Amino acid sequence: MVKIAPSILSADFARLKDEIQEVEQAGADWIHVDVMDGHFVPNITLGPLIVEAIRPHTSLPLDVHLMIEQPDRYISQFAKAGADYISVHQEACSHLHRTIYHIKEQGVKAGVVINPATPVAMIEPILPDVDLVLLMTVNPGFGGQKFISNVLSKISQVRQIVNENDLKVDIEVDGGINKETAKDAVKAGANVLVAGSAIFGASDRRQALSAIRSSCE
Ligand code: DX5
Ligand code: ZN
Repeated sequence: MVKIAPSILSADFARLKDEIQEVEQAGADWIHVDVMDGHFVPNITLGPLIVEAIRPHTSLPLDVHLMIEQPDRYISQFAKAGADYISVHQEACSHLHRTIYHIKEQGVKAGVVINPATPVAMIEPILPDVDLVLLMTVNPGFGGQKFISNVLSKISQVRQIVNENDLKVDIEVDGGINKETAKDAVKAGANVLVAGSAIFGASDRRQALSAIRSSCE
């Protein structure tokens, strides 16, 4: 069963509560929250205050994607704010195993993320310890970019390792997901799809969500 996680990066921030409730009613499975610090990526977005503000307005899991340097400094704040999943970039962690256990100690599910140019080998040793692997299908920083199809082979590699070792790990993709690319990502082995502009950029969110969902059935 494929899960769809609309990314609020492409939502109207002045109407964030309504935007989230609209996609929840339209059938979203998770809410994806993109945190950017202007250092790890060129853009700056939001912090724990916004996570705390939206938490009471949805019953969906909040999937917090940290695109920040030194994520350990902020993990407990995001956990207290109500994150259900916290994912950190392998490229931002010099002690990845320690950081993943830091997330788990807060009672939050832990994810690891890699950029399009980072090989799967960099996260292979941590796969038994995470709940979620997020494969970036664009270079992180902005919504509305084009899906990098070279990542499809990395999705298949992670799916193979997960299945062969019977790991309980979700495989998520993020960036440039629309009804065409969603189909390819799911075929390669992804089971969670982040979509920002394809959902919040559409006037009919229910239709946008169901178009993505039915394309991968
Ligand atoms: C990119 C973010 C994505 C972004 C995806 O750095 O991590 O979550 O919102 O946006 P779309 O779906 O428009 O590519
Ligand atoms: Zn993201």
